Amino acid sequence: MSIIEEINQLKKERNALVLAHYYQEGEIQDIADFCGDSYFLAKKGQESDADVILLAGVTFMAESVKILSPNKTVLVPDMKAGCSLVFESPYENYLQWRKDNPEAIAMTYINSSADVKSISDVICTSSNAEKIVNSIPTDRKILFGPDKNLGRYLAIKLKREMDFWDGTCEVHVLFSHKKLFEVKQEHPDALVIAHPECSEAVLEHADVIGSTSRLLSEVENNKKYKKFIVATETGIFHQMKKLRPDAELIQAPVTNHCACNDCPYMKLNSLEKIRNALRDLEPQVSVDENIRKKAALSLQRMMDISNDKKVAWPQQFEL
Ligand code: 13P
Ligand code: SF4
Repeated sequence: MSIIEEINQLKKERNALVLAHYYQEGEIQDIADFCGDSYFLAKKGQESDADVILLAGVTFMAESVKILSPNKTVLVPDMKAGCSLVFESPYENYLQWRKDNPEAIAMTYINSSADVKSISDVICTSSNAEKIVNSIPTDRKILFGPDKNLGRYLAIKLKREMDFWDGTCEVHVLFSHKKLFEVKQEHPDALVIAHPECSEAVLEHADVIGSTSRLLSEVENNKKYKKFIVATETGIFHQMKKLRPDAELIQAPVTNHCACNDCPYMKLNSLEKIRNALRDLEPQVSVDENIRKKAALSLQRMMDISNDKKVAWPQQFEL
């Protein structure tokens, strides 16, 4: 049996759903039941009636599924698949920030730990962040973390006052605005598309800024352009090439001499690890029940706002 046949058989035996982020290797995206951005994967996980969900991405994505669906078995191919934004926002420091601003609303990027989500009022992803900001009463101060680049982009675009946590994505900060300017000069007929985790200087060069799914739909649907300069992780090229085989996709240049822009955590996953996880039902994601209940409130607020439901906001931070 090939490894893909083994995975398909295990999926049936386990009543399992495989969700993959767009930054996974192409062969992983191809065996997934669904590929998507962080919001889409969280939603698919919540809606699914599978007994087992395997999330091929990074662990905060799998934790979000577990938080919203505690009765499901949630697997990851590799527990070491973290995220620099999670590492740069330790719980104790984040808690202090909240305590120092008890009247503020804490809007937290999904790229955060379950602990940090449990002391947040609402979660967002890059695909729903604007809608979430616009749902927060204008007289409330916003604490935005852990990604300061996404936060700054939102604050400027939506003209909202925010305090930012000092965290960044170690992959997206590598894009060089100087080199990007040069590549634009070489390809004046290209559209520049960028993820909002890029630095402010890089985003100033971008024609379109959005989540992975937003960037993908731009390449798919904008037929006026046949050339795109792409400032995000390389995994996304797999779907872009499939959807627009006629288009030239140019990777935005990075500051060092490496030609790649891979997320080291996303790229820890492999077909072998997926097969093993489905076979052994390990590694499983678990979240302490007290933390989970609180984190579920902030994630559910995100889901409700995304579905145009009205939500109530706490007046004060309480632990
Ligand atoms: P998306 O929600 O846009 O897929 O982004 C997730 C991520 O980790 C980007 O680095
Ligand atoms: Fe985290 Fe950046 Fe990797 Fe996304 S690309 S998972 S933000 S380190």
